[in-house]
Amino acid sequence: MWPFNFAKEDKHMSKYIEEKKLKGREKFSGKLGFVMACVGAAVGLGNVWMFPYRLGQNGGAAFLIPYFLFVFVLGSAGIVTEMAFGRFMAKGSMSGIRKAFKDKNLKGGKVISLIPTLGLAGILIFYSVVVGWVLKYFFISLTGEIYTINPSEYFNSFVGSKETILWNGLAVLLTLIIVIAGVSRGIEKINKIMMPCLFIIFIVLAIKSLTLPGAYKGVAYLLYPRWENLLVARTWIMALGQAFFTVSLTGCALVVYGSYTDNKVDLPSAAIQTALFDTLAAILAAFVIIPAVFAYGLDPGAGPALLFVTVPTIFKAMPLGGLISTLFFLSIIFASLSSCIVMLEGPVEAAMSEMNISRKKASIIIAIICFLLGLPMDLNMNLFSKFSDFITIYITPMGTLIVAITFFFVIGSKEALNEINKGAEKPLGEHIIPLIKYGFTATTFIVIILGVIYGGIG
Ligand code: ALA
Repeated sequence: MWPFNFAKEDKHMSKYIEEKKLKGREKFSGKLGFVMACVGAAVGLGNVWMFPYRLGQNGGAAFLIPYFLFVFVLGSAGIVTEMAFGRFMAKGSMSGIRKAFKDKNLKGGKVISLIPTLGLAGILIFYSVVVGWVLKYFFISLTGEIYTINPSEYFNSFVGSKETILWNGLAVLLTLIIVIAGVSRGIEKINKIMMPCLFIIFIVLAIKSLTLPGAYKGVAYLLYPRWENLLVARTWIMALGQAFFTVSLTGCALVVYGSYTDNKVDLPSAAIQTALFDTLAAILAAFVIIPAVFAYGLDPGAGPALLFVTVPTIFKAMPLGGLISTLFFLSIIFASLSSCIVMLEGPVEAAMSEMNISRKKASIIIAIICFLLGLPMDLNMNLFSKFSDFITIYITPMGTLIVAITFFFVIGSKEALNEINKGAEKPLGEHIIPLIKYGFTATTFIVIILGVIYGGIG
């Protein structure tokens, strides 16, 4: 027997082409490519930069209890909601929200729909500044210049300098090239390479870090549970903010990726896998950085300076430090560039849908706008932190809230659950409705309030 039934194949193919023509949408090739892209969107600077010191500062292993709870219950609920909303509408966030409001004759959709997409573009504006720094540090590791620098002086004179514009431009350019290539040929392909490489490098570096003399103090700092921290509100609040930021809940990023999937993709399982790999990346990053920090007697709570001052100090002193530093910053490029991709794709999809322009044109226009708006942030760190706080405290959680409300209240819980369960091997029961409809939306609202009170928790 012939291995293929051509007649059947042809029928399938023409049905596929028909569907494609009807929807006019690009698609991920399957669940693997989709999950890789979502993991790429989730794993980023939040995992490498924030998680390790937050874990240490907020009770070590005790912090993992609220963190796991928030990532796996609320985070996954938010992820699956955004993915399913995109697929249900077969549109990105902006057009999807507009259509949902219009279908129900509700006013305000045009304005409200701007928030999640502008929020995601806002993240790209400041995030790509830091990706530029990462590119620069990769470069000085590769050339060996890292051996010659005084890490603290070097960082202080580099940040805010005109030179950062060049590196920011390179970060935006790399993102642009991938996004122009399209969903399956660009975004999916590159994530399928970058994500496995990222995990392999993290594992190699974690082994290296854990085998340094004195590394055990770092392990104790990360893992010794300080239960009393669970009685402190800050522990829970930081875990909540971290959980929302780390899985990229923005009301736009995962919506746009979800809109490129078909009904066969098991969204609940994709959501759990995204949360799982994101958590794994965060824990591995902590085991790469913190044991080495303790082995060299440095400060684990250095905050933003951790990556660009503390870590280079370690590499300078370490045998084969240049090579290890190159690998380290390469992995951070993979982590952060894969997040930049979705940050550009969200607004690009909106421009393509709303203005009816080509992917290439939309990508170039949005990338240039975001780069230009980022210039003042390259040069002024005060502005950088004010702008990034504004986006992450107010706009992105608001975007998350808007999509959850649009799906579960405007469109309806039954339709939402039905969409979530299409293609699911283990469909979710109706009990999930109150969890998302009331639990998740109320918590997102609380995230905004706490962000305002604490000056940022994500
Ligand atoms: N979720 C991405 C990060 O953690 C944005 O950096």
